Amino acid sequence: MTTPAHVAIIMDGNGRWAKARGLPRVAGHKAGVEALRHTVRAAAELGISWLTVYAFSSENWSRPKSEVADLMGLLRIFIRRDLADLHKSGVRVRIIGDRTSLQPDIRGLLEEAEVLTAGNTSLTLVIAFNYGGRDEIARAAQQLAEAVKRGEIASEDITPELFAEHLDTAGIPDPDLVIRTSGEIRLSNFLPWQSAYSELIFQPCYWPDFTREHLAEALREYTGRERRFGGLAACDVAL
Ligand code: IPE
Ligand code: IPE
Ligand code: MG
Repeated sequence: MTTPAHVAIIMDGNGRWAKARGLPRVAGHKAGVEALRHTVRAAAELGISWLTVYAFSSENWSRPKSEVADLMGLLRIFIRRDLADLHKSGVRVRIIGDRTSLQPDIRGLLEEAEVLTAGNTSLTLVIAFNYGGRDEIARAAQQLAEAVKRGEIASEDITPELFAEHLDTAGIPDPDLVIRTSGEIRLSNFLPWQSAYSELIFQPCYWPDFTREHLAEALREYTGRERRFGGLAACDVAL
């Protein structure tokens, strides 16, 4: 198999990385932003077209207020400091997740990042922020239910393809490969619809330690996998 067009990463383990060093959790999140910077560069160099990163889940609000504030602050800093560089490197930014409950200045920054980079054609960086798959699916169902109520579509018209057009990821191909760092073997509400046929790779390293070599290693493992999408392997079709 060739290089995956779309790689999605659950960037996990910042807190444990910090704890192992006797540092506060926020130090792990800061180191995580640095790992994100070099991963975006590495992904573009390795020929990936779409990179989705899970930065803040709709369940992460349940963390202590101070940690939530730190994470919001780091997003602000990331967009303010890195947007110009991302734009210069031809990166297009897209945001998925529910923006309605974010602070207005953050919503403004996210919008600015998307508008400024909309015409870029190198890597697309999709940032999942205040994202939860169940929430995304429920919001899509609400939109469709309203369209049915207005008489714009009939309920029988709702196919998986139409449904997907109402998800935050409309227009984004499904991830070919989902990587999770930190050794946890679960998806934690990340792209449950879109990852139905994704290859999954779990790596033990904490996110701040993630390097280009970890990404390259995941791509090598992906190359050795055989995707069937419910069909048969190419070599079995002729039998
Ligand atoms: C991932 O690291 C970053 C976010 C969830 C925002 P964690 O903060 O979950 O780190 P661990 O899992 O506690 O080590
Ligand atoms: C998933 O990690 C969310 C992000 C990486 C942003 P969590 O650390 O929140 O997930 P759980 O709680 O271990 O399942
Ligand atoms: Mg975690």
